[in-house]
Amino acid sequence: MAARGGFSSRLGFVLAAAGSAVGLGNIWKFPYETGENGGAAFLLIYILCTFLICYPIMVGEIAIGRRAQSDAYGSYKLLGGKSWGFLGLFGILCGVMILSFYNVVAGWAFGYFLEISFGDLLETPSFGDFFGTYVADVSDNLIFSLGFMLITAFIVAKGVKGGIEKASKIMMPMLFIILLVLIGYSLTLPNAMDGVKFYLLPDFSELNLETIYSAVGQAFFSLSLGLGGLITYGSYVEKNQNITQSATMITFMDIAVAFLAGLLIFPLVFSQGQEPAQGPGLVFIVLPGIFQAMGPILGKVIGGGFFLLLCFAALTSTISLLEIPVAYIVDQKKVARKWAVWGMALLVFLIGLPSMLSQGAVAAFSSLPFYGGKSTLDFVAEVFSDIGLPLGGFLMSIFIAHRWKLAALTDEIAQGNESYRGSFMNKYINFVISYIAPVALGLFFLVILAEKIFGFSF
Ligand code: TRP
Repeated sequence: MAARGGFSSRLGFVLAAAGSAVGLGNIWKFPYETGENGGAAFLLIYILCTFLICYPIMVGEIAIGRRAQSDAYGSYKLLGGKSWGFLGLFGILCGVMILSFYNVVAGWAFGYFLEISFGDLLETPSFGDFFGTYVADVSDNLIFSLGFMLITAFIVAKGVKGGIEKASKIMMPMLFIILLVLIGYSLTLPNAMDGVKFYLLPDFSELNLETIYSAVGQAFFSLSLGLGGLITYGSYVEKNQNITQSATMITFMDIAVAFLAGLLIFPLVFSQGQEPAQGPGLVFIVLPGIFQAMGPILGKVIGGGFFLLLCFAALTSTISLLEIPVAYIVDQKKVARKWAVWGMALLVFLIGLPSMLSQGAVAAFSSLPFYGGKSTLDFVAEVFSDIGLPLGGFLMSIFIAHRWKLAALTDEIAQGNESYRGSFMNKYINFVISYIAPVALGLFFLVILAEKIFGFSF
């Protein structure tokens, strides 16, 4: 244990795992998904899905890691035999691919922070045009995404306690503070309440199958589930810690930040008479217009503050994504941590180049003929995240129920939580992992297959 490193306390683990969960998924993706999927109804389904499917899967992931005390591959192999090791490798591959494009978007946030606070972005006549030109620009993107990856690697190289845990303990509270200050401002704007209504009063007429499975994918992504990230972090957790309680705190923090991000953004959007259904540009195109309207000084402060917040949130997530393959290399290949970190960071950066150049910089990457003319970034995100994560969660629930067995899961959770055995929580987690998760996620795949491969639309 000592050789592998570990978190120093429960708070350290909870903040690091919450830092992993809270990221672009909450502040960039959640609001635009909510805006596109009808507002409050999406929020409701997302929360339902988090508790009904995701929470037990989170507990399962942490328990697997803590039991095996190994990386994602090593843990599945140790508990399930070599063939299950592949599930770990699949997770590590998804993690690498997600980080490769995630880092690009984080680079945009980093660039926007600098351009708003210290440059003249807010004087731009059209933010849509600005965004389009910005993401197609090669040199800025190279610098900012390389910069973001270097900062990530620097922290991960410092190890679990001195790097990951410390960074999370500083950044997570800061993030909450910035968020609350910004919300305080946004709620005082004219027409802010229209945004609050859109966000909090559900209109179920908008609801369809697409909404439901967007919510499932969003919940997996946001909670960092399905690819062994929490197996890896779980392997650094002490045996006397209460896993279900930690998972509850992580889940609540994640939902809280997503919820607050919506509460910040929709009042801003409605107070400017803008459309909530703007897609991925919502945060980058709509928000700067609002910051501009605040006047030059306040705009730089509030706008810069917002994008700085986005960078912090993204950084604790890129850290966790990089740790997944790093732990694998350190544990399985016995490479020194430092080399594993810098080598992997470089590799992931290179893998991310096509995604980075796919926003208009290089035509061949921007419009993939075999993928309906969508960009490489969309392709990687849809395959490895939208499909990969729920697939990982589906297979994990089968692994627990049929290979590792529920009794072993219960034994592991009961360590550090004596009253777990036989409790309502115990029955609930077992029930979800044996029935709800495999059935719901199985249906999810049938829908995706039908849609993506056979062209049905629901
Ligand atoms: N949860 C992060 C977000 O919401 C992204 C993320 C970090 C992630 N680590 C992960 C997603 C591991 C899946 C698996 O932005």
